Amino acid sequence: SRSLPSAENLLRWYHVHRRILPWRAGPGTLPDPYHVWLSEIMLQQTVVATVIPYFHRFIERFPTISDLAVAVDDEILGLWAGLGYYARARNLIRCARAVAEAGGFPVTLDGLRALPGIGPYTAAAIGAIAFDIPVVPVDGNVERVTARMFAIEEALPAAKDAIAVAAARLGAQAAAQSSPGDFAQALFDLGATVCTPRSPSCMVCPWRDGCAAHARGLSADLPRKAKR
Ligand code: ADE
Repeated sequence: SRSLPSAENLLRWYHVHRRILPWRAGPGTLPDPYHVWLSEIMLQQTVVATVIPYFHRFIERFPTISDLAVAVDDEILGLWAGLGYYARARNLIRCARAVAEAGGFPVTLDGLRALPGIGPYTAAAIGAIAFDIPVVPVDGNVERVTARMFAIEEALPAAKDAIAVAAARLGAQAAAQSSPGDFAQALFDLGATVCTPRSPSCMVCPWRDGCAAHARGLSADLPRKAKR
C-alpha cells in the first residue's frame, strides 16, 4: 500500500499560506469557540467572501455569546437578513441561549451535536478548530482533496463513505493529531486555493508528491459525479 501524504508538509504549507479570516486566531493559538461556531453556522450554505462582513457585524454588535443570547429575535434576524435560510438563524438563536445557559460550549462531539443547528459536519469543524478534537470535518473541499490524494474513482454521492474513511486516515497521522484545528483548516484552504474543482494548481501543491490522482494525470477529473 502506498504511503500517506505527509501532514507535516501540509501544516508547513498552511503556516505560510493560510488565509487571514476574522474567525481565525494567530498560528498556534486556539480561537474563541463563539467565533468558530458563528462562522461555521454562517458558512453552512454561504461562501467565505459573503460571510466575512456579516461575521464582523455580528461580532461588533454581539461581542460574546451572552450578548447574542439576550438580544431580541428581530434584531438578530435583521442582522442575518441577506444570508438566507432563516431556519439557520432560528437555530442560531436557540443555540446561543442554550450555550449561554450552560455557561459555555460543550467540548465533546456528542455535546456539540446535541445543540440546535449543529450536525455531524459542523460538530467536527467546531470540535477540531475550537477544541483540537482529533477529527477531520469533511466538507466539499475536503472531499475533493481526499478523492484526489487517494485517486478514489467511485463517483459521488456513492463515494462519500470511502472518502470519509480515507479522510479519517489522513487525520490519524501523528502530525495531524498534534494540531487537528490547523490540519482541518489547512485542508479547507488547500481545497479553496490550490486543489480547486476545475483546474487545480498541482505545480504549487504541498501534497503533489503523495497525490495518486496527480501521478495518474487524473487530478482535474476527480471526484467523479454520478450522471443525473
Ligand atoms: N469552510 C468551512 N469552515 C471553514 C473555515 N473555518 N475556514 C475556511 N473555510 C471554511
